[in-house]
Amino acid sequence: MKHHGNVIIIGSGLIGLSVARELAGLGLHVTLLERGRVGHEASRAAAGMLAAQAECDQPDAFFQLALKSRNMYPDWIRELEQEVQTSTGYRQSGILLVATNEHEARTYEQRAAWQREWGLRAEWIEPAELAAFEPGLAANLAGGLHVPDDHQIDSWRLCQALWQSAVIRGVEVHENCPVHSLRIENGRVRGVRTVHGDFSAEHVLVAAGSWSGQLLSGERTIPVRPVRGQVLEAYAPPNFLKHVIFSEGCYLVPKSEGRLLIGATVEEAGFVKEAELGGLRRLLERAAALVPEVDRLRAGPVHVGFRPATPDLRPVLGPDATVENLWWACGHYRNGVLLTPVTGKVMAQWIVGQTPEVNIQLFGPQRFLNQQQKPAAAGSPTG
Ligand code: GLY
Repeated sequence: MKHHGNVIIIGSGLIGLSVARELAGLGLHVTLLERGRVGHEASRAAAGMLAAQAECDQPDAFFQLALKSRNMYPDWIRELEQEVQTSTGYRQSGILLVATNEHEARTYEQRAAWQREWGLRAEWIEPAELAAFEPGLAANLAGGLHVPDDHQIDSWRLCQALWQSAVIRGVEVHENCPVHSLRIENGRVRGVRTVHGDFSAEHVLVAAGSWSGQLLSGERTIPVRPVRGQVLEAYAPPNFLKHVIFSEGCYLVPKSEGRLLIGATVEEAGFVKEAELGGLRRLLERAAALVPEVDRLRAGPVHVGFRPATPDLRPVLGPDATVENLWWACGHYRNGVLLTPVTGKVMAQWIVGQTPEVNIQLFGPQRFLNQQQKPAAAGSPTG
């Protein structure tokens, strides 16, 4: 048996990579086990919006976690890019939340009000001012909420930068190495079983996205299910959109080199990864209702990813409730890219025995112990 102390991380999406990099930075030896290829699932399909204000509809603990992570981004990215000498496509472009009817307009105005009470920038744009603010928008919209401090990043470039940094720091990465099961003895995790043999370690962290729930059985499992998102890539002329446009059921995210990402469907389709035309048609109809010129763009590839969803649509962060030295960092649902810096930092601090700089007790896996929670409907605008 190979001895791979100190920490095994299962899953090499953004979350697994971020925790691995932090742990290696604290001097631990980390082995990252990936069932397929590094970052090739949800992390690669994500549109990369850092939408703490745009996607949260109430000032709760989740909003505070999201805000903390968003605010970590500028320094965290500067340090990462310096370390690997690669751009991550981080853009401080701001998000415009567009209301398509009066009800949405009132909801977003209320959101702007409580966010301003929090000292955040949130500016209401009247319908008559929208055309000057974002010229590509349709004429019949009901106003917009501009949140200039919600930014965006290229999630695939971020993934590659984190991977490179992790390797520089000594993380051992095994691709095509699915984990069959956890090795648990006397209530404590000892390692994992894989197709390539057993690995041992003092700690095991599960960061396997939508697959995280498959490692334990019965009552001890963490309930994570895949919620499929399809994102259509298109090619747009320079300055096609000034802002990220976010609306109920559709967003448009301008990227570098003329790419425009149009996302995303929210579908309960299990692990079926093929793109489906019905979902793409509805997405395109919504996109064209917001930005009519979308119809004239050249189509690119479709990206499909599985958002890892828990019954309450909140992440699972912390030590297992019954198995010693087993840790969870999964279930980030719509906010994996946004929560990557804070998850990496606090999970690494916790695993090495430091007090995490953010209190994440509320997100612990113990909330699912002996509970048959009714799943919240996927697509809920929050988180
Ligand atoms: N955060 C955007 C999405 O999951 O579609």
